[in-house]
Amino acid sequence: VSTEVSTDLADREALAAAIPTAGEDTPVAKELADNTRRRIQLTGRTFPKPSAPRVITVANQKGGVGKTTTTVNIAAALAQSGLKALVIDLDPQGNASTALGIDHHAEVPSIYDVLVDGVALLEVVQPCSTVPHLHCAPATIDLAGAEIELVSLVARESRLQKAIAAAAVQGHDFDYILIDCPPSLGLLTVNAMVAASEVFIPIQCEYYALEGLSQLLKNIDLVKLHLNPALHVSTILLTMYDGRTRLSAQVADEVREHFPEQVLRTTVPRSVRVSEAPSFGETVMTYDPGSSGALAYLEAASELADRGAAVRS
Ligand SMILES: Nc1ncnc2c1ncn2[C@@H]1O[C@H](COP(=O)(O)OP(=O)(O)O)[C@@H](O)[C@H]1O
Ligand SMILES: [Mg+2]
Repeated sequence: VSTEVSTDLADREALAAAIPTAGEDTPVAKELADNTRRRIQLTGRTFPKPSAPRVITVANQKGGVGKTTTTVNIAAALAQSGLKALVIDLDPQGNASTALGIDHHAEVPSIYDVLVDGVALLEVVQPCSTVPHLHCAPATIDLAGAEIELVSLVARESRLQKAIAAAAVQGHDFDYILIDCPPSLGLLTVNAMVAASEVFIPIQCEYYALEGLSQLLKNIDLVKLHLNPALHVSTILLTMYDGRTRLSAQVADEVREHFPEQVLRTTVPRSVRVSEAPSFGETVMTYDPGSSGALAYLEAASELADRGAAVRS
């Protein structure tokens, strides 16, 4: 009898040793535990309301760095956290409109009508059906021609700024207006920079991440000097971070070294869920709220909101 018991005990101990403990000694268990902690900390938190609406241009003339993904998910996270947000889609491709499930076929009133024909901004704004308090001024294919049509119009650089100012006079109650820029430094991006006081730069954690950044900063300085003295780079977000590569960590370190004040602590991991969401006309914030990508965007939005509040107090 006594031998049987001791054998059982030995077996059970061996078994227990073989099973990963409830601790966090495997990467998967650690990530799950981290995600759960972050979700508990952030979900349902109400972000501080800025004392005045914040108009933020999301810019980087490189394509595919995460501008659109960042714009729609940060805006959705802000809206889910008690603030009212507007996304202005300023890219003729209309990816932000698509990602928010907003109708933007050729006949829909759009930001083109606002910029070129002087239609009121609030007349083209549509609500996002999956996220309350989130709205979008869509881009249609017409916008592709605006870059050229704007050239011959009066006040061609400040048409968006005037449209937002007019909406303020009409009493819009957006706490955040995020402008998704096309991958160029043309008149559309200049309009976005004149309309905003903050520039938010997403940087992809890849080779050549910093290439082209000096051109972007030079343009921001030019707009600041000649058209909009309030403009400044307030926020940088590292996107598509791959924790398995040294490259991602190196790029992140380098960017943090150059811009210690602007870079958010949160980095957005490369995540399939993030890239799948737009094909369902949803942000990842509703498509898979528990995913690492959604949590990262919630955390980044929380930092953005806290910083805005801190700057003013
Ligand atoms: N964190 C991420 N993980 C995986 N894919 C991503 C992530 N962020 C963006 N992507 C994908 O990368 C591509 C480029 O992103 P996008 O936001 O459209 O960049 P931009 O607007 O700068 O051109 C898109 O297919 C998008 O779904
Ligand atoms: Mg885009």
